Amino acid sequence: MSNPSILILPGDGIGPEVMDQVTRVIDWFGAKRDLSFDVSTDLVGGAAYDAHGTPLHDDTMAKAQEVDAVLLGAVGGPKYDDLDFSVKPERGLLRLRKEMDLYANLRPAQCFDALADFSSLKKDVVAGLDIMIVRELTSGVYFGEPRGIIEEGNERVGINTQRYTESEIERAARSAFELAMRRNKKVCSMEKANVMESGILWREVVTRVGAEYPEVELSHMYADNGAMQLVRAPKQFDVIVTDNLFGDILSDCAAMLTGSLGMLPSASLGAPMANGRPKAMYEPVHGSAPDIAGQGKANPIACMLSFAMALRYSFDQGDEAARLEGAIEKVLADGARTGDLMGPEGGIPLSTSQMGDAILNALDASR
Ligand code: IPM
Ligand code: MG
Repeated sequence: MSNPSILILPGDGIGPEVMDQVTRVIDWFGAKRDLSFDVSTDLVGGAAYDAHGTPLHDDTMAKAQEVDAVLLGAVGGPKYDDLDFSVKPERGLLRLRKEMDLYANLRPAQCFDALADFSSLKKDVVAGLDIMIVRELTSGVYFGEPRGIIEEGNERVGINTQRYTESEIERAARSAFELAMRRNKKVCSMEKANVMESGILWREVVTRVGAEYPEVELSHMYADNGAMQLVRAPKQFDVIVTDNLFGDILSDCAAMLTGSLGMLPSASLGAPMANGRPKAMYEPVHGSAPDIAGQGKANPIACMLSFAMALRYSFDQGDEAARLEGAIEKVLADGARTGDLMGPEGGIPLSTSQMGDAILNALDASR
């Protein structure tokens, strides 16, 4: 049988340097755990625009459709701020999500014990935190029509449309309930049913799907209250399911509970392919961080944890995923810190590749 295939799209900013460390981890699994992958690499975002005049070449899109999993670094940067909207780096990412139909975006927010002091919240509010946000990723106001900037009278009007079909809500909800069954059996759905019809439908459909999962405790919250509850008492949640835009905002908020955006992975999953694996793309939640790009300061952990999610959700290697997560937890417990994880006491931060060294050593020790 041939090896499973991975397409790596390092992208822009710190994307390439964190991905270099992930490549070392992938190689380690091939050499030491007899778990080899066929890895290919291509361009996305600003890097693709520089080479091809488009943030995602059609050939790259076609490759992404064929592989077992895509691993993406980050896209965007100030260099591309003035580009036409249609060729902005972010459009490459959105096209991948849309054309691969990756409707369920899993964004776990877990607080590692060693980092509980780094959160902007009090330690006892975040210690032991383990929540999962399921963000609908292919619809809603990001994609709804009509959209655009039009002339009306003597001024311009910016238009975007929040639009959700029942089936779009249903499949995102189902992903959330399935996850909850393997976790603590709680789902909280967030929308704005008090002001938006799409929110009313969202609540109705989630409730209907929930009836198929009697073991799961379902609650509903308006998304603004949800944002407040996330910083007030985040441990009340297990799985949160929400739409594309609220999910974008709430997941950044949840990420920061854990101490650093440099720690948070994500998985974007679609329908099963012919081989039974879901269409899948894995990416860190952090962006391209142009301010520190190319300086070897970036934290590679979010990207490595994204690969761990690939091991778990695409390759059915939950034990090996846990091995990698365990290695990361170990180096953090031993005090390994990149710049984003430096406390007020200071110290000399590890470089991106030194953090990679530490994690590879911990992986070696895990065997
Ligand atoms: C995210 C990002 C993206 C989004 C951008 C880069 C298009 O913020 O993945 O959360 O808004 O979805
Ligand atoms: Mg975001």
